[in-house]
Amino acid sequence: MTESELDIHRGATEIAEALRADVREGLSAEQKWLPSKWFYDAAGSRLFEDITALPEYYPTRAEREVLAREAAGIAKLTGAHTLVELGSGSSEKTRLLLDGLREHGSLRTFVPLDVSEAALAEAVEAIQADYPGLDVRGVVGDFTEHLGLLPGEPPRLVAFLGGTIGNFLPADRGKFLRSVRDVLGEGEWFLLGTDLVKDPETLVRAYDDSAGVTAEFNRNVLRVVNEVLGADFDPDAFEHVAHWDAGNEWIEMRLRAPEAMRVSIPGAGLEVSFEAGEHIRTEISAKFRREGVTAELADAGFEVEQWWTDAGGRFGVSLARAMS
Ligand code: SAH
Ligand code: AVI
Repeated sequence: MTESELDIHRGATEIAEALRADVREGLSAEQKWLPSKWFYDAAGSRLFEDITALPEYYPTRAEREVLAREAAGIAKLTGAHTLVELGSGSSEKTRLLLDGLREHGSLRTFVPLDVSEAALAEAVEAIQADYPGLDVRGVVGDFTEHLGLLPGEPPRLVAFLGGTIGNFLPADRGKFLRSVRDVLGEGEWFLLGTDLVKDPETLVRAYDDSAGVTAEFNRNVLRVVNEVLGADFDPDAFEHVAHWDAGNEWIEMRLRAPEAMRVSIPGAGLEVSFEAGEHIRTEISAKFRREGVTAELADAGFEVEQWWTDAGGRFGVSLARAMS
């Protein structure tokens, strides 16, 4: 498939504008930060796929275990005609849902949505090849902005996998969940993957692997800022930090400047100074408990019909129905 067959809501101009605004806001703040969606250019998406295969990074395997066990039941319960996937990436685990829904006989359309055009183009091509007859409508877009534009007939099942919900700050998370509810009709479905609170050692190892892949993924955000806004960050000069914040129950990824430095970002009209030891927060990855997930979904207008975890209790998957 050619790139032009994707429905592109976010092209190069919009990307540069959005990044400029985020960089201006985040890097002039007292505590510097950058939104984690900027990890995912072609290289960042490849690095994320590498992370999913790391021995320390259990969430992908744990979620796959649940989906493999429950996909047929999910298909039977939802009878979905359309599967929408938000932040779809490679859509590898999603194949389990596609298989279940195809077997059940209800599936007509698959709508993967991702900011990463490279990851999406590759996934759409592979799925079209492996699922002949399935109407695949890839959408390049931002799930905080473009949910209203998604195609496909009801009943729809919207999947948000991988624990990506944890990458929102809590207030944004509530807003996002309500926006998903708003685009669904009563009785349509939401399948949500959430990584669960567990011992800090396991969590920190998952975000600070011994091969250094997560560190490269983290530094990639600086490469994206260099590429798009002509900045002169030296990504290798920044140290990767994975910190467990026990109060907030989230992993915080940081890039730490070991010594004072000055960075020029012409595309954002910004000069940024770092003191020795100062860091940029590049991601939070919140970890959940069952009661919290159920309550947040209820606040957004969903009722949880099923809750599953992997055998090790590491990762939770909720199947929720949109309520009136
Ligand atoms: N769902 C896959 C990929 C998870 S990685 C899995 O479970 O393995 C997170 C994915 O979300 C990446 O592909 C990234 O490009 C995408 N993403 C991150 N922020 C996004 C946003 N605001 N809008 C759309 N996609 C986003
Ligand atoms: C996409 N998201 C759920 C991943 C996570 O675990 O928060 C991104 C990631 N960051 C570091 N490793 C993986």
